[in-house]
Amino acid sequence: MSLTQLPAWQALSAAAAQLTATPLAACLDDDERNRQLRLQLNGCHFDFTRQRLNREVIAHLLSLAEQTAVADKTRHMLSGDVINASEQRAVLHTALRGGAQVDTATRQAVEDVQKQLNDVAAQIRGGRWLGFSGKAITDVVHIGIGGSHLGPELAVEALSGYHSSALRLHFIANIDANIFHRVLHGLNPETTLFIIASKSFGTLETKQNALSARSWFIERTNALAGVSRHFIGVTSNVPAAVEFGLDAANLFPMWDWVGGRYSLWSAVGLPLLLAIGEDQFSRFLAGARQADEHLLQASAAANLPTLSALIATWNYNFLGAGSLAVLCYDERLRLLPDYLQQLEMESNGKSVTVDGEKVDYHTMPVLWGGVGTNGQHAYHQLLHQGTRAYTADFILVAGDDRNMRDHHHWLLANALGQSQAMALGFAAAADEPHRHVPGNHPTTTIVLDELSPATLGTLLALYEHKVFCQGAIWNINSFDQWGVELGKELAIPIHAQLSGTVCGEAPGEDSRTAQDPATQGLIDHIKSRH
Ligand code: F6P
Repeated sequence: MSLTQLPAWQALSAAAAQLTATPLAACLDDDERNRQLRLQLNGCHFDFTRQRLNREVIAHLLSLAEQTAVADKTRHMLSGDVINASEQRAVLHTALRGGAQVDTATRQAVEDVQKQLNDVAAQIRGGRWLGFSGKAITDVVHIGIGGSHLGPELAVEALSGYHSSALRLHFIANIDANIFHRVLHGLNPETTLFIIASKSFGTLETKQNALSARSWFIERTNALAGVSRHFIGVTSNVPAAVEFGLDAANLFPMWDWVGGRYSLWSAVGLPLLLAIGEDQFSRFLAGARQADEHLLQASAAANLPTLSALIATWNYNFLGAGSLAVLCYDERLRLLPDYLQQLEMESNGKSVTVDGEKVDYHTMPVLWGGVGTNGQHAYHQLLHQGTRAYTADFILVAGDDRNMRDHHHWLLANALGQSQAMALGFAAAADEPHRHVPGNHPTTTIVLDELSPATLGTLLALYEHKVFCQGAIWNINSFDQWGVELGKELAIPIHAQLSGTVCGEAPGEDSRTAQDPATQGLIDHIKSRH
């Protein structure tokens, strides 16, 4: 039976018609409901009370979880079934933190790679990994994009309070030469180590940046033989990495059952391991493992990922929310919206079911966000008085690490004030319509006790599992990303025209392949300005 025909879906449609006439404030007036909507896990407090739903809706949502078999699908994922059907792969990133049931050989392979990573990280952190001229490493440049970049950079920045080595960590993702130059400017090649992270080892940006980094190194050192002391790689395609020129002894493997956007827990997380060391990194993994155990064990009503996904479904499919704003009231989480954009939109921005049928309901809307309080002075105007329905996640950290109480209390007070305004609005006098704030916008508030490796691990893994539960409800494959391929292919003949390297033509000739008039016009314009 299709999703929209399920009894729970139909019941939710009927409930939505009624509830849109009920103000959010009225929903809040129910202690039992509010109690059900406050849940904790490992120092992460989730408050869903400012969602626009009542006990009846919660009951229908829980039935939806049952009717879409979320718990069964969870068991399939965690026991290594091939749930990524379009790529014929299991989905076992949870095995990287001990949260899945895998065979002994797989568990051993994961442990071996982690041990290898810990050894290398200890050498680099301890100044025992020497560059070609005998000097210790001072700067590490991580080159990767998408899932091979967003997680490590976010985690390194978020856990700045736990950095325990003098190493400076840098990131290059984009193919734009501006970032390449900004990062490498002033670095000493004798003391710089590059990590080339690419699951496929076929990604254009990463390969081009790696090539340029290699040239940068050789031009400045003249030490071709020194490359192996300055380049290490992370990939599931070892032959391609070796063919590219990386030394097999410096490669950390990944497995095809780890999706790129779920790979922070693998060797892709090496920058974080370098920054915080083995003990804290193992706390990060343990925090994520707690989320895995929670996903498997907690009943749907008390299951954070399941409930988050159900509430998101309610907002997107029944209340018409067209975007999810992630509003981080902590500068250290500045990069979280970028990371979640890939996690949620690349996973669940799909139009067909797992069986290839076209969906007749909306899937993932746009996720965006930023840091509070800055956003209040930029886009919150639209959130308070704009015309579109949306939902938001507020993320706060209760602990005051900087010991500046005034700043911290104002920061938190602003976060709570914003979500209060979004929920309750303000009824202005009739002659002041410009002051009217409609309210009734559903939001979730997540309060971390502190921002530590353990709480960050739990938070990120809970978001991963929310995405999984959401895909389970929508009956889509959250683990492939075929939509990104077309643009990559189209760029190839365009690049050939821009660079004058169309097959069979001499470089620099005015080479043309068949392009639509708009593309050709832009190519011609750009070439005329070169
Ligand atoms: O283009 C999208 C994508 O394939 C992501 O799914 C992935 O995280 C990113 O590119 C990088 O891929 P890789 O790690 O294989 O270089």
